[in-house]
Amino acid sequence: PGPHRVQNRQEADPALASAVDGLISGDRDFFNTPDSDPDLPANREWARGILERMKDSTVGADAVKANTLKSSAELDEAIAMGVDAAADWQAMGAAKRAEILHRAGALFEERRGLMLEVMGSECGKTLDQGDPEVSEAIDFAHYYAQRGLELENVDGASYTPSKLTVVTPPWNFPMAIPAGSTLSALASGSAVIIKPAGQAARIGATMVQALWDAGVPKDVLQLVFLAERDLGRELVSDPRVDRLILTGGYETAELFRSFRKDLPLLAETSGKNAIIVTPHADLDLAARDVVQSAFGHAGQKCSASSLVILVGSVAESRRFNSQLVDAVKSLTVGYPWNPESQMGPVIDKPGEKLMRGLSTLGEGERWALEPKELDDSGKLYSPGVRYGVKRGSEYHLTEYFGPILGVMTAETLEEAVAMVNEIDYGLTSGLHSLDADELAYWLENIQAGNLYVNRGITGAIVQRQPFGGWKKSAIGAGTKAGGPNYLIGMGTWSDAPVSQ
Ligand code: ALA
Repeated sequence: PGPHRVQNRQEADPALASAVDGLISGDRDFFNTPDSDPDLPANREWARGILERMKDSTVGADAVKANTLKSSAELDEAIAMGVDAAADWQAMGAAKRAEILHRAGALFEERRGLMLEVMGSECGKTLDQGDPEVSEAIDFAHYYAQRGLELENVDGASYTPSKLTVVTPPWNFPMAIPAGSTLSALASGSAVIIKPAGQAARIGATMVQALWDAGVPKDVLQLVFLAERDLGRELVSDPRVDRLILTGGYETAELFRSFRKDLPLLAETSGKNAIIVTPHADLDLAARDVVQSAFGHAGQKCSASSLVILVGSVAESRRFNSQLVDAVKSLTVGYPWNPESQMGPVIDKPGEKLMRGLSTLGEGERWALEPKELDDSGKLYSPGVRYGVKRGSEYHLTEYFGPILGVMTAETLEEAVAMVNEIDYGLTSGLHSLDADELAYWLENIQAGNLYVNRGITGAIVQRQPFGGWKKSAIGAGTKAGGPNYLIGMGTWSDAPVSQ
């Protein structure tokens, strides 16, 4: 969704530019930035240029080197600098901060092609996966800028931001999540140290450069990479750090918490998510949404659907099952710089757990499509579909983070919901059904932070669908990213304006 169709990504779009001016002056409400329309001839040409640069791109490599800290003394200095800088950033006031963040949104837009180039070359993101991520990062900039203004205008309560927020984002959404976490903390008035994931270092550095160019001072936002693991531990344990925003595995969040028990933590963690398809579904739509949710970015999304639960007659539906398997089989797997690629590689050679998911069947399971290694890189796999996944089995309950879909069956919707709820995580969940009673039952009983009906279950949209987990999919304050209350939990209040 967006205000209009962007005809040509190669040229600055005057309508978008004036919309950003409107955001800065306060004359315009927040709007979701439009994704690139690949059908328009000018955009096709633009995309071709990006793909040509992608394979050998080294954008950001120098910045990664320059910002790699090697010793405790360097880290100590960075932390001290961040704490010092926080006072000025806070004193600057929300309006000036908002202006800088709106400008950052505009710069992300201007550099959309550059961001796509880096995400493709470094993280294996195909253009169709990277483009909405840039849009989301832009949305975060404008949205949090506006929410930051509200923190100063609460009757009877005054807000004190954290001084120094450490952001440790993941590699799977290498632009949107680092940008969103950083922008939220900056908008709330906190200084930030960001340590991008090693597999997404160049895109992290490229995103941060845009924030600096927009006017965020370099001491207010510091980019660090850490030469040693021990330095990571020092960073998150340092008592001068008064907030940590982490997106990653549940075990990582627990580990960080064990370093420092009193650390205020906002953590978005793991997921094992399912779409339930009932006999009242539009089965064609369901097959399409399951495939997109399971195999977008090779299944490496915390929000991915790695399970589909077929209720009643859907389990026996030849039409649905052959459509599902055929659609997965038809996916073209390849590197993102090949224009025909629909699914890219996995980020690293699979570790022990993902390897098990790609190669081992549990009792009663069979491959409808067995994943195959497609070259000697160790990272390019064809997508896998396994049938016969049993309730309580390892595949049912484990997050693998790769291109595998497991199919389960249930007699009733009630049984399917129970199967979802016995998973420890509760991040995203989907229902495909056109029946109002089924929808009401599912909404009342399903345990997940983000619910999607008759739609895929990835791709939350800032403001429209704030994003946050439940159960073992989150640790911390419990407000949702891209939603109205996210910044409220980032500081302390003289008197709480809302109950959390
Ligand atoms: N926000 C990401 C999504 O919704 C994780 O897919």
